[in-house]
Amino acid sequence: MYEQVSHSLLNEILDELKPEIRRQDLRHFYTRLGANFYAIHSLFHSLYGAREDFKEKSIKLVEVMAARYIERSAELEAQDKDRESNHNWFLSQEWVAMALYADGFAGNLDGVCSRAPYLQELGVNMLHIMPMLVCPEKASDGGYAISDFRRIDPRVGTLEQLQTLAESMRKRGMLLTLDVVVNHTSDEHEWARKARAGDRKYQDYYYIFPNRDIPDMFEETMPEIFPETSPGNFTWDEEMQQWVMTVFNSFQWDLNYSNPDVFIEMLDVILFWSNQGADIVRLDAVAFLWKKIGTTCQNEREAHLILQLMKDCCQVTAPGVLFIAEAIVAPLEIIKYFGEDAVIAKECEIAYNATFMALLWDAMATRNARLLNLGIRSLPNKLDRATWLNYVRCHDDIGLGFDDRDIMAAGYEPHAHRRFLVDYFIGEYEGSDARGQPFGRNEKTGDARISGSLASLAGLESALESGDPKIIDRAVQRILLLHGMILSFGGIPLLYYGDEIGTLSDCSYLEDPNKAGDSRWMNRPRIDWEKAELRHQHGSVEQRIFDGLKRMIAARKGIPAFADFNNRELIDLENPHLFACLRTHPEHQQSSSVLVVANFDANPQYLELSNLRYRSLYLRGTLHDLHTGEIPRLFNDRLVVPPYRFYWLSNMR
Ligand code: GLC
Repeated sequence: MYEQVSHSLLNEILDELKPEIRRQDLRHFYTRLGANFYAIHSLFHSLYGAREDFKEKSIKLVEVMAARYIERSAELEAQDKDRESNHNWFLSQEWVAMALYADGFAGNLDGVCSRAPYLQELGVNMLHIMPMLVCPEKASDGGYAISDFRRIDPRVGTLEQLQTLAESMRKRGMLLTLDVVVNHTSDEHEWARKARAGDRKYQDYYYIFPNRDIPDMFEETMPEIFPETSPGNFTWDEEMQQWVMTVFNSFQWDLNYSNPDVFIEMLDVILFWSNQGADIVRLDAVAFLWKKIGTTCQNEREAHLILQLMKDCCQVTAPGVLFIAEAIVAPLEIIKYFGEDAVIAKECEIAYNATFMALLWDAMATRNARLLNLGIRSLPNKLDRATWLNYVRCHDDIGLGFDDRDIMAAGYEPHAHRRFLVDYFIGEYEGSDARGQPFGRNEKTGDARISGSLASLAGLESALESGDPKIIDRAVQRILLLHGMILSFGGIPLLYYGDEIGTLSDCSYLEDPNKAGDSRWMNRPRIDWEKAELRHQHGSVEQRIFDGLKRMIAARKGIPAFADFNNRELIDLENPHLFACLRTHPEHQQSSSVLVVANFDANPQYLELSNLRYRSLYLRGTLHDLHTGEIPRLFNDRLVVPPYRFYWLSNMR
């Protein structure tokens, strides 16, 4: 939009840009800057307009965007333009992602490069390589305590190796996702070291206080994120003799976004990694970006303004790059990280669907889909040009962040139900075969979360110990069922490395004092490639899981109705053990509809097809399952779904 105040500021900025920037051909950059500048100016002004140096900081901001644009390679720029003209590219059903630690998966970046054929064999075409930058030697919070935003840990690789990997992935048609940990740095980052040494400029990069007055006020309303290992939200720094805000671990210092220099530095980091070939940038812990006394310091309006500003600026320099919001917060809050607009994502195009993930585990434990159905229904429809990242497991814990009202509507008491779920997954509930560990138990509030690998939580660990083929088979079915759900829900399915071969929890973290207090390390394994080879051995657990997933992934890619156009209709069923929805492609509805049906129970369940109003419309004639090719058993128009099985049903064509 054209608006006079911002436009005259833009003119002044352009006059004052550094000569080396002015000399460049910035045609495309200026077109986009012009288009976005009104928004950039108003957001930057709402955040920092009261400062005397506002204009100076505005010039700095534009200089950073221009400098990174000049460095962007011709290839990436061409890709930006392609994506501009094909803006819905990321909503396609053809994307299937996997998150992995480069060292855990394949030793280092070169290893990941040489394992690309393995990923392609499975059908994965989007990689999220978890943080691999320099961290403190001791505790690193799984790579999320970053000491240098531009330097890769030499044990994992070099920048050149990452560029080679990115290039090889581009040739293979695979996307690369990298993290930018925007909320904090480690206490060994150069900024933190300078702050510690008394440099006021860098002390302003963080929240630093001489005494407990302000920290105590904050603490009144701030929850604790890691109550066991890092209680409270502030840490006393001996050297500086001051308190520092550390919402996560004591060695992770929160960045102060009320300082425009912090915003500009972090935007620069985002653009730097975009220029290294990241197609997607995962913005870590975005709910925490703004701190305000008297609040939980999560999901504040300004956190959203910061993300909108990051998006608007990134669109000028590297418009083909997408953002993932990592905001593991209440269901109604998560959706806001797409940005509040009618159609397009104004903040992040992609967000973790933490609600769906937790609901799936609820269905596993309760063997019914009551809360799953209610929880999905309570999620507002997302924007048209935004999508979910649907996942079963990741490197973090499982938080039980459902809405209490949904829990009650499903017939449970919220506190008791959450307790049941934790007990179930740590194997303390009678009859449970799950083998997880509690995480983040908070004695004051009674809250707890759950750690453990997918296979161990789904009962494979205990099944293998029992040696009973039937029980092993049940665990394999559950693993496939959960993946069947994320592959058909709508959005990008995100697999987690190791899950494709049923990797059990890794308890070696207990031997390392820097990890022992954090049970999330049990789900950050080192891949055993000998075990992975067993995927070729017919009948092995590895083969059944790997091939099952491979088949589903291949089927998904060929089902246009699985693209994400808000084209999912949940179906009300009398049978609580079943979940069912209809996926329909907006353009070719009748021919392409797919009925997704999943049974979360240990017994066969049936679905009365004749009660479905779609039956005559979309699901005529003989139905067949798109991922196995089977024709499921029907009895008097009742569809029988075996225990822990799911179907993607469509008409025979
Ligand atoms: C994100 C990461 C998690 C980390 C936290 C703090 O939630 O996924 O692993 O502990 O941010 O950086």
